[in-house]
Amino acid sequence: MDHLYFYTVLFFTAVLFANSQDPRISSKLGEIVGKIKSVPIEGLPYQNVHEYLGIPFAKPPVGELRFRKPEPMTSLPSPFYAQSHGAICPQITMTPVDVEAEQSEDCLFLNVYVPDRPADKPTGHAVMVWIYGGGFVEGASNFYDCSTLSIAGNIIVVTINYRLNVFGFLNTGDENARGNFGLWDQHSALQWVHDNIGDFGGDNQRVTIAGESAGAMSVMTQAITPGNRGLFQRAIAQSGSMSMPVLDFERDGLKDTITLAGSLGCETDSMVDLMRCLREKSVDEYLTAVYSLLSNVSYSPVLDNDFIKVNPRYIAKMSEIRSLDEIEFFRSVDILSGFNAFEGALFLPFIMDPTKIENMQPTRQEMKRQYLPAAMNMLYRTGFADEIMNLVEAHYTNWSNPDDFHSIRLQITKLLGDASFGVPAVEMARLHKISSASRNFMYHFAPKPSVRLLPTPTWIPGSNHADEIGFIFGSPNLGVGDGNAWETDLIIKMITYWTNFIKSGDPNSPESVTPSWPEYSIDNGDYLVLDKSMSDESAKQHFYAEEANFWLEIFPDLVEAVQGDGKGGCGDGTFTSSAPNVPVYGSVSFITAVILTFVSFF
Ligand SMILES: *[C@@H]1O[C@H](CO)[C@@H](O)[C@H](O)[C@H]1NC(C)=O
Ligand SMILES: *[C@@H]1O[C@H](CO)[C@@H](O)[C@H](O)[C@H]1NC(C)=O
Repeated sequence: MDHLYFYTVLFFTAVLFANSQDPRISSKLGEIVGKIKSVPIEGLPYQNVHEYLGIPFAKPPVGELRFRKPEPMTSLPSPFYAQSHGAICPQITMTPVDVEAEQSEDCLFLNVYVPDRPADKPTGHAVMVWIYGGGFVEGASNFYDCSTLSIAGNIIVVTINYRLNVFGFLNTGDENARGNFGLWDQHSALQWVHDNIGDFGGDNQRVTIAGESAGAMSVMTQAITPGNRGLFQRAIAQSGSMSMPVLDFERDGLKDTITLAGSLGCETDSMVDLMRCLREKSVDEYLTAVYSLLSNVSYSPVLDNDFIKVNPRYIAKMSEIRSLDEIEFFRSVDILSGFNAFEGALFLPFIMDPTKIENMQPTRQEMKRQYLPAAMNMLYRTGFADEIMNLVEAHYTNWSNPDDFHSIRLQITKLLGDASFGVPAVEMARLHKISSASRNFMYHFAPKPSVRLLPTPTWIPGSNHADEIGFIFGSPNLGVGDGNAWETDLIIKMITYWTNFIKSGDPNSPESVTPSWPEYSIDNGDYLVLDKSMSDESAKQHFYAEEANFWLEIFPDLVEAVQGDGKGGCGDGTFTSSAPNVPVYGSVSFITAVILTFVSFF
């Protein structure tokens, strides 16, 4: 087939697919043609969503632009046919649903879902921008079908891609490559939304950023970045915070870059030459190299003194000492956050042989000698003195049933979940509410759904990591498959709470929903339990008070007293105590953990 013929066919196909009913937007960037999707929802008179898919928001970050901040896209070919998704960013593994998607380094696309129904306010539709999770090494906007959420909740939803893994986070610790390119991509997409969403009928004064897992870590990181002032007013963080101990903002990026360069044949004494060589390698060469170096290199956000100027791990402590612009901005944003009942299960595959998890029957000795040290080592990248380990063990022993393997394995799961997701979320809610006129709401998502998104041992009695996502999007490919009555009810409630918050900053209005969700306060620790059946009893108090006291007060004070390194906290990677000699089935990095989670199951 000669090229002219090929392109002619492509051209006519595009024109034929675009018909006169297709929704069209005239924007500052040019004319954008979308498509209509019908989402019949029982009882809802509105059914159509206008989808604008695969819109590039930045120049392709390839060639000279690889390992640099994104450059904005100032115009599009007009008309631009935004009728199918763009490529997803290069990644090693992907959840099974999306394995087929095309990968390309040219991946900075976003998708806009506009409900075909009147906005709740004359200023236009409230907007949610969804930032995907996946440990900063995988994920794709294409994976999230937002049509149900958009039409049922009557909001505009935007999903964005951002660079992942080495392409998103390679860094040299200096101006050669500062890292955090993936976070800059998110920022650039938020700027695009601010500048252009009005053309789609959106209200750029009512923008909420939302995400899950690494998406929530991203959301919280964007929410402490003063350069985002004016780009969004609210933030939703589902199971992720920038203060999670597994995130290592001070890791040695230069060392990783040199290791990687060695494996790509780019070793040289000149950093300029090294970067030039790195810009010439193909995507396949990178993915092969990164895969073979899984336990040697890791890619995630770093303290670069540009995008991130204060280590988010210690931002709560630092804000006690001096006022920070980061915290001032953080406190101007309304926040809704929470986590799931048993999501420590996400981390089980790398404190033990993944094939043994389903049938694990741990004894107390194994808990003490094997699982506990492996868990602490994974979370904090360091070992701890015996006095400290004994305290943690005592705290995570179920004293009404200390030798029962059922309770031991649940306690291990709880420790992993508490220290990684639960306590940091509460820590950030407190930091937000200490002095803040803006609003804060917390949830605990509890139930065991009929379909899991992630591989989960059958003995986990409630929600694992990511199990709540399907309830927000009301979408079967995201885990809610069987359509049980309680699941449908909970989907409707959660979509209403979420989109109310997105519209007004309050999950309880403008649409009515019960029970009422009380606002978080430092004194009462109010929160809402999202579960199979809900009543006024679902609103509870003192959320994670005991766990937060243990991990934020008792544990670091004991570490300070016993290991006395003057850091007044744990997990900055400088402890002198040597790591115990325990088998660790994964590596110390969060990224590796996520990859191994998928690789080991699929
Ligand atoms: C990767 O790490 C392993 C274990 O620490 C080490 O044996 C190996 O030499 C490292 N490989 C490279 C290329 O640095
Ligand atoms: C502790 O064990 C008892 C008895 O098996 C059980 O009823 C209880 O739920 C357990 N507590 C926790 C926190 O798992």
